Amino acid sequence: MRMTVIGTGYVGTVHAACMADIGHEVLGVDIDAERVAALAAGRAPLHEQGLDALLASGVSAGRLRFTTSLAEAAAFANLHFICVGTPQRPDGAGADLRYVDSVVEGIGPRLRPGALVVGKSTVPVGTAARLAGRLADLAPGTEVAWNPEFLREGSAVHDTMHPERLVIGVSSDRADALLRAVYWPMRRAGIPVFSTDPATAELVKVASNAFLATKISFVNAMAEVCDSAGADVTVLARAMGADSRIGPQFLDPGLGFGGSCFPKDIRAFAARAEELGAGEAVAFLHEVDRINTRQRRRTVDRARELLGGTFAGRRVGVLGAAFKPGSDDVRDSPALAVAAAAQAEGAAVRVHDPQALDNARAACPDLTYTLDVPKACEGADLVLHLTQWPEYRAIDPAALAGVVRTPLILDARNSLDPRAWGAAGWAFRALGRPLSTVGGAS
Ligand code: UGA
Repeated sequence: MRMTVIGTGYVGTVHAACMADIGHEVLGVDIDAERVAALAAGRAPLHEQGLDALLASGVSAGRLRFTTSLAEAAAFANLHFICVGTPQRPDGAGADLRYVDSVVEGIGPRLRPGALVVGKSTVPVGTAARLAGRLADLAPGTEVAWNPEFLREGSAVHDTMHPERLVIGVSSDRADALLRAVYWPMRRAGIPVFSTDPATAELVKVASNAFLATKISFVNAMAEVCDSAGADVTVLARAMGADSRIGPQFLDPGLGFGGSCFPKDIRAFAARAEELGAGEAVAFLHEVDRINTRQRRRTVDRARELLGGTFAGRRVGVLGAAFKPGSDDVRDSPALAVAAAAQAEGAAVRVHDPQALDNARAACPDLTYTLDVPKACEGADLVLHLTQWPEYRAIDPAALAGVVRTPLILDARNSLDPRAWGAAGWAFRALGRPLSTVGGAS
């Protein structure tokens, strides 16, 4: 099938490459000419496992092309996926839909009769209906559907090729059949498809993200209670997660969630619900947000306390800048926020990350960066573990103890082994875990 994918950010690039890989003819569209040139040469603009190979093979097979021209896109296909960003509005909590709107304004007058415009961007419920109204004027006889994306950064290609479900929000049987045909390999693999109306499809996405964010904030709230009660949140989370009705995923206590999705999605959801008169129903999302941002503050407070009450003149080694492991994305990264806060309070902060240093440097140019873990920790009075990259679990604590000034580590991701670090002479500290269980030297 022929299709365009408009917007080549995370979702768009991965969607375009995967659609080409399953045999479709895909034209990717972006207003950024430099990005289009890189993609056309088979180079991914972001670090994502397996994406480079997929892009290169799609491009060299001739099934994947890129352009900056919406006119070319409109002429190329009758099926158009909108994958542009929907960031938080600069002046409020709601979603900024200017990019979605400008795609519709740009392509609308040029659409061929019968064209189907499919949104994949995360949007406030009611957006598809509003856009359908606009297209009724700009391009009579066209249709709008919503087909939300559930991929995670770091496993985006896998998530797209092997999703756990497909959600198709349509207003006609024709659109439903067309979208089911697009995802033929997934349907053949028995992946469930939920066909529904566009509003429900839009809501499935935001409700799913809100639920996962709530789960993370719930366990982080428990970490705070554990701190007050002298209990261990990691054991609590494992024991809770063993109940299959609860499940262990997204129950990792620590520094909380960041990235380009959860924080802005829960705010946009609450804002939209308020517009609809249903604000009270999701008022708890404000608390979820507050719990989440409080974890960054708690980490900074705990670090300062460990340094004897001040960051001034202290050296801090930071492990991790990305908002999560497996990604080079630092958007709303809790790790980078903590590193920047420590530096702002007078610490000399040196940050290590295996993938995200370029993006981190662009976002926080005042921090010092290195690709070498021992260098990051050289002479440090405190080491902060802020993103749980697997390579940090492979660190030899004894060797690292040799380069720091004081072997003191705060594991804000609860993923290092306290016994191994303690045995190597480190004072190991964590949020939501009493000294009696993390132990180590004091
Ligand atoms: C999230 C959703 O998981 C995807 O399904 C969704 O498609 C995507 O948002 C989106 O809306 O585009 P993503 O932001 O890539 O995906 O990353 P996650 O793996 O969900 O992690 C989000 C944040 O939660 C990270 O900062 C991570 O470190 C944090 N997290 C996750 C925790 O703090 N604890 C956990 O137990 C799990």
